[in-house]
Parts: sequence; C-alpha cells; structure tokens
Amino acid sequence: MGSLGEWPEPVVCVQSLSESGELVIPDQYVKPPLERPFSCLSDVNIPVIDLADLSVSREVTMKKILEACREWGFFQLVNHGVRTELVDEAREIWREFFHEPMEVKQKYANSPKTYEGFGSRLGVEKGAILDWNDYYYLNYLSHCRTKWPSQPSSLREVMEEYSNEILRLGATLLKVFSINLGLKEDYLQNAFGGRDVETCLRANFYPKCPQPDLTLGLSSHSDPGGVTFLLPDKQVCGLQVRKGDQWITVKPACHAIIVNIGDQLQVLSNAAYKSVEHRVVVNPNKERVSLAYFYNPKNDLLIQPISKLVTSQTPALYPPMTFNEYRSFIRTKGPHGKLQVESLKCPR
Ligand code: OGA
Ligand code: NI
Repeated sequence: MGSLGEWPEPVVCVQSLSESGELVIPDQYVKPPLERPFSCLSDVNIPVIDLADLSVSREVTMKKILEACREWGFFQLVNHGVRTELVDEAREIWREFFHEPMEVKQKYANSPKTYEGFGSRLGVEKGAILDWNDYYYLNYLSHCRTKWPSQPSSLREVMEEYSNEILRLGATLLKVFSINLGLKEDYLQNAFGGRDVETCLRANFYPKCPQPDLTLGLSSHSDPGGVTFLLPDKQVCGLQVRKGDQWITVKPACHAIIVNIGDQLQVLSNAAYKSVEHRVVVNPNKERVSLAYFYNPKNDLLIQPISKLVTSQTPALYPPMTFNEYRSFIRTKGPHGKLQVESLKCPR
C-alpha cells in the first residue's frame, strides 16, 4: 500500500481524457462487472422534506426527518432558506473553475497528505481502479485558506457566504436530530465540538464519458464524517443511493439540497441513524458538477455511541475513535462501500 505522503502513480486529469476524444476509456477506469451501473430503480425517490414546515407542522415534519434518518440515511431539503441565487452561483462558479486551462488548475494540484486542492484520485493504492471524476477539496479551517483558488475572483466571497448558510442549516438539523433521539437539542452539536465543527467542501466535476456503462463517477461509499450537504447539478442526474439491494437514482427537486448521514452520526446514534452507501454514474453527453459540503466533528474528539442510547438491549456497536483516525482509512484506501464502519463493529 502507498503512503499518505505522495500519489503512487502520475495523476491523470479525467477531464483531459474526456476531451481527448478517445472512444474507449483506459483500463484503469473499467470497473469489475458487478460494480458497473447496471439497472436501477427510477420510479422511487428519496424523501423530500420541506423545512418551512418545521414551524408550521412541527411534529409531522420532525417525524418525517426521523424516518428518513432511520430508513434512508438521505433526504432532500426544499425551502431550506439558502437563497436560490447563491445556490446557483456556488455551483456555477466551480463549473467555471473546472473549465479554466490545465495550467491554472495544476497550480493547486493536491497530495494525499491533506487532499486539499485540485485532484483526480482518491486513495493511494498502486494499480487501483479509478473513478471518472476530478475534484477540488477545500478546507474551511481559517488557518488553511491559502489553498483556495484565486480565480474566479468571486469564488472566495461566494463560498464563504455559502458556508455560513450551510453552517446555519447544519445547526438547525443537528437540533432536530438530537431531539429525535430523545436528547437535549444541543447534544449533537456539542458532541461535534460545539462551535468548532470542522467543515470542508469537495467540488466534484464529472466529465462526459464515452463508456458510462463500464465505470462510475464515484464508487460506492458512505461519507466518513458527520452530515453531508450535497448540492447536485441542476440538469444532470447521477447520484444513486442504496436501498436494500437496489440502487435508487435521486431526482433532485429544484434548488434542493440533499442531506445525508455520515459514519460519525451512525456511530454516535449507535446505528439508529444510517450512513448509507451511495455512488455516482456518469453520462455520455453531459458533464455534471456537484458540491459536497461536509459538516464534521472536530478532528481530535473521541466519537463513540452516546451513553444514553446504550442499554442492555442495545449495547454499544462501535469502539471510541477520533474522526482523524477514522478518516485516515478512507484516505488510504479510497471509496470502498461501507466496509469501514461495519468492520469496526465491536465483537459480539
Ligand atoms: C461525495 C458524493 C455525490 C455527487 O462527494 O461524497 O457522494 O452527487 N458526491 O457528486
Ligand atoms: Ni458521498
């Protein structure tokens, strides 16, 4: 296995593969047959939650959110209060960045040590099968903002405003998630480190792919962190969520923000809330842009099942671990289904 100091092979930008006009994708992107995106359900969708209903019909809405966290690990939020212009601007500014010339993007090339910056692979295993995407990983820690792109010039301002809005949404949802578990409303926010939550963003760019049936834009994975706020592409679907042994294609509502439970919330809730596997399929005719904003616990806090939720009937399923320790696994191995949180289960 490679170390987290450097990439094991020269990194190839997927967009340049896409633009080369080749009709056959390189072998390194061809998934084993069982991982390819064969048939999936398109007549079902993940739950839609209207956040404005939280003040109008509180009980019903809280219950809908509880069911979504338990049964789906995913829901889409509408009427979330984030200005629609800001939502569009945030996404489109990243599209603009990905269309900058290669020399500009290469200035921000990332390393597996922190992942910050422009990159095209996750994981450092030599010879690994890769995903059909390029991304930009942005850290919101105040001392780490040096690796933000300087172009487009309004990116910084837009992404700061966007972050403030998502922080507000995150705080609201953590309250709902806490109350729904029978905890004080500030419980989960404190378990995440209070005001010190650590947030980061991955802007994903999925270029057109000449053989979309053979590969994936992002392999099946569950998000390692706390809660993810995903802003999907306005025109192009691609996200699929696992439901039992089926894959459901998410059909985003206009200006919706998709919320999903990450592994750390599954651990804290002792598996009452599910961190569910998802993946991205690519498209032969259209590129796709999405922004995944990760609302994570502070790196060095111990995360373990909340004592109030541990009883003789529901013993602790996971050992304590810091988010930092947990995350180094996915950073080394790349996206790998739900293997990690499940493999950490306490022996019975
Ligand atoms: C992610 C992710 C989904 C998407 O970045 O973790 O799951 O639709 N993205 O791009
Ligand atoms: Ni994800």
